[in-house]
Amino acid sequence: MPAHLKVIPTNDSSTTIYNSKLKETYHSINGAITESIHVYINAGLKYFYIKNNGNKIKILEIGLGTGLNVILSVQKIMQLKNTLIHFTSLEPFPLAQNIIKQLNYLSFIEKKLIPIFNKIHSSSFENNIELLENFILKKTMKKIENFSSKEKYDIIFFDAFAPSKQPEIWKIENLKKLYKLMKSKSILVTYCASGQFKRTLKEVGFDVEVLEGPPGKKEIVRASK
Ligand SMILES: C[S@@+](CC[C@H](N)C(=O)[O-])C[C@H]1O[C@@H](n2cnc3c(N)ncnc32)[C@H](O)[C@@H]1O
Repeated sequence: MPAHLKVIPTNDSSTTIYNSKLKETYHSINGAITESIHVYINAGLKYFYIKNNGNKIKILEIGLGTGLNVILSVQKIMQLKNTLIHFTSLEPFPLAQNIIKQLNYLSFIEKKLIPIFNKIHSSSFENNIELLENFILKKTMKKIENFSSKEKYDIIFFDAFAPSKQPEIWKIENLKKLYKLMKSKSILVTYCASGQFKRTLKEVGFDVEVLEGPPGKKEIVRASK
């Protein structure tokens, strides 16, 4: 395992990864799974599904990381019937298998999802991978800065490291690009609710909603096109 990465527990007893080079964790230390469900599954996927009566949903994630948002989305989709998910996730720095194996998410998800979690990490990049009949994942090693697509997306999971750690990811050029890649009435969800970020979103043209955050975080953001 690279010396700068360490698997650590969070307050809901699910694990996350600490990156000592950035001095940053992949999730909230107040609860990794709790945060993912609150921000991306409930404020993102479930909200959009209900508002749009299911149908096809295209998701773009900035930062696959541990694959937690993907597996929780798969779990949700097994409950929400009649939809087809295309989930594209960007990850320029994939985690090694020996780190993935130390994460304890398998004890939090339904047993039948265990092979699917393993498939998320063992499958190749740049290809469509069928995780379920109605859930297709495409992992790409592109950075947000270099990403382009003919696809248009319904939901963006903006799950990059914090603006204080990786300011280049949060810059207006990237958000303008994402805006163009989004369908009308689509949404972007993220754990970050900093004043500067909200101003940037508004400057790009988003409607910005501030929602209650998960434990340890006052607010999160859902931005609509
Ligand atoms: C906060 S972590 C991701 C958390 C992830 N969604 C999860 O559930 O584990 C941020 C991720 O963004 C990735 N990343 C770093 N630079 C990036 C870039 N320029 N474009 C896209 N992703 C990037 C990192 O490698 C890391 O996996």
